[in-house]
Amino acid sequence: MTTDIKKGLAGVFADVTAISKVDPEINSLVYRGYPVQELAATQPFEAVAYLLWNGELPTDEQLAELRAIEHANRALSPAVKDLIDAMPVDSHPMDEVRTVVSLLGAIDTAGIDNVLDAVGTPAENLDRSIRLFAALPAVIAYGQRRRHGDELIEPRDDLDYAANFLWMTFGEEADPAVVDAFNRSMVLYAEHSFNASTFTARVIASTLSDLYSAVVGAIGALKGPLHGGANEAVLHVFTEIGSAENVGAWLDEALAAKRKIMGFGHRVYKRGDSRVPTMKAALDTLVAHYDRPDVAELYDTLESEFVARKGIYPNLDYPSGPAYSLMGFDTLTFTPLFIAARVTGWTAHIMEQQASNALIRPLSAYDGPDERHIDGYVPDAADVEALQRPEEAAD
Ligand code: CMC
Repeated sequence: MTTDIKKGLAGVFADVTAISKVDPEINSLVYRGYPVQELAATQPFEAVAYLLWNGELPTDEQLAELRAIEHANRALSPAVKDLIDAMPVDSHPMDEVRTVVSLLGAIDTAGIDNVLDAVGTPAENLDRSIRLFAALPAVIAYGQRRRHGDELIEPRDDLDYAANFLWMTFGEEADPAVVDAFNRSMVLYAEHSFNASTFTARVIASTLSDLYSAVVGAIGALKGPLHGGANEAVLHVFTEIGSAENVGAWLDEALAAKRKIMGFGHRVYKRGDSRVPTMKAALDTLVAHYDRPDVAELYDTLESEFVARKGIYPNLDYPSGPAYSLMGFDTLTFTPLFIAARVTGWTAHIMEQQASNALIRPLSAYDGPDERHIDGYVPDAADVEALQRPEEAAD
């Protein structure tokens, strides 16, 4: 058996990318060369999406052009609304969004009757990426409203992406400080090299499947609590603990039960996630805005106690969970917000994969039973030939 197995592909370079670089040694994350902190502080999310897709920040004209397409594709179409309404009201919003992306794909690729054409041209895929990016906020906002028994809110043309997202969710114009914190979270979540969901998207794209199929797969990967689902899980932890004075006893019990503490740890960063200070600053702004020092106290106490005991640092999901909660998002809506942001990175990677494709198909080392045979089975001539083939020959 091959012994050089990297469980979970840990430490394996699977391909090259020009989209982002995570450097845990110097605790840095850059998108197309720009430090993510600078982008979060200066750019609207739409401009960062443009950067991820095109490699450069947009000029004013290019941003206006992107925004015009984004505005034109913001409203929930009747078909999508009907589909959402057909799902159980208590279905997980990740499942809702995943299902909607499937429908959008079926509509957008209708009429393609040759599987070889489904992959689309680069221009078609850029258009699909922009439309998907534009369509998701209404899906997520309506999903939350529906769970509360509230009506759909139509988008507002005078608001940018972040402000309009909050408007469609809550039906009131958000304070600029809240819009800014939300925009920063979108920028921070947008891209992170070969994380599990992005790699899933690239695997699917590498088969020359279509962009929507790749995004649907990525959403499935993101849902898991070891990945995007952690931002939802952080809030469950906060709710379980209740308040800062309970942290010590709660941690004793959780660690004795060998529980993973959600929002801590990272496959790549071992000395802290480069995105956390920026998101923590946004959380602090929200704590001040909503006058909720109790949230900051619980956050700080859990962080310092857990780091002191285990030496494991928070990841981006740790500050973003309570930040989204303060903004008024339901806990169940947190991971869909991650979709809205990461769809930009996913689609950039899908297009990069397609531009320089090699089917992603690693090998597996087998450690099952030795070859054995069914009693009394007499192979015919074809089987005799097939049984002599090497294990990996025909998939
Ligand atoms: N709580 C308790 N122990 C932990 C944690 C944690 N959050 N994270 C790592 N450890 C321990 C783990 O038990 C193991 O200990 P030991 O060597 O004694 O068995 C050691 O640290 C190494 O952990 P690992 O799980 O083998 O490390 P990994 O690189 O495979 O996992 C991780 C990374 C993110 C899956 C893991 O840290 C984790 O499960 N964290 C909690 C879930 C979470 O917050 N996920 C979000 C990830 S980042 C943003 C995103 O993708 O959304």
